[in-house]
Amino acid sequence: MAKTPALLLRDFPLGVRFGLTLLCLVILGGAGVSGLYLKTHHDNRDERQGFNLDDIRAHYHGIKTKAPMLGALERGHPEDLPDAQRAALVAWLGSENLKQNYDNFDLGENMPEEIISTSCVSCHDSGASGPDAYPQIPLRYFDDVMTVSQSREVNPVDEKVLLASLHAHSLALGSLCIVAVLLVALTRAPRLIVGLLATLTGAGLLADLGAWIPARTNEAFIYAIVLGGFAFNAGVVLSLLIVIADLWLPRRSPASGD
Ligand code: HEC
Repeated sequence: MAKTPALLLRDFPLGVRFGLTLLCLVILGGAGVSGLYLKTHHDNRDERQGFNLDDIRAHYHGIKTKAPMLGALERGHPEDLPDAQRAALVAWLGSENLKQNYDNFDLGENMPEEIISTSCVSCHDSGASGPDAYPQIPLRYFDDVMTVSQSREVNPVDEKVLLASLHAHSLALGSLCIVAVLLVALTRAPRLIVGLLATLTGAGLLADLGAWIPARTNEAFIYAIVLGGFAFNAGVVLSLLIVIADLWLPRRSPASGD
């Protein structure tokens, strides 16, 4: 087994160990807060409630999805819908005031609510039965209609903002990770663990930050951002927990050697 390093955190004077412990707590707290920040800041990034992968995708890559109803109409579904009504629904789906126009009487016979209730609800209703029914997508009520009516086009973060943020994050997080790796290397933890944590931290941060720019054009890099971010955070948190423990665990008795 490799030797423990000549310089050990545990050998530092009491005041230094105390100060280091407090600073480790600050960074651990910061890691927790940054998780919260990520959640609140990006929560609605994809214009949908709740924080999930789409929020990250929207921020770094942008999201463009066609409303399922638009897709269905464009591929000629349902077959027997008159052209005028199909055109009216397509125009409505592309309009700005989707919600207001849904039951806008000024639209006359082109009012979407009217078309949908006469041409769609017979099949698209929770209670609809029959060989052609499709109750999985109910269209009787406004809220149900809305879930299949909204197209999304969320642009990724502005390139200048991204570059400024990348610059700040690389320097700050890079330095933080270097410190965490060095500190854990000066503990008595098994060298294998130290090596794994250092690799996890370094590879994670490089994957995360390195993927920001390619993610604008290639969506697959979103996974590198998420997994890399998770990895380097785990690396830093585990390293600092080991550091804190090592600062205060009693020294080994000289008989056990090193
Ligand atoms: C005769 C029954 C019937 C009628 C009428 C009907 N649908 Fe459907 N619809 C279905 C069935 C069955 C499916 C599932 C198979 C498919 O996708 O074609 C479906 C699928 C859909 C989907 C999902 C498509 C997707 O790509 O996920 C949407 C949206 C939809 N219909 C909207 C409408 C709208 C809007 C109308 C009225 C203008 C309508 N449907 C009228 C039977 C019907």
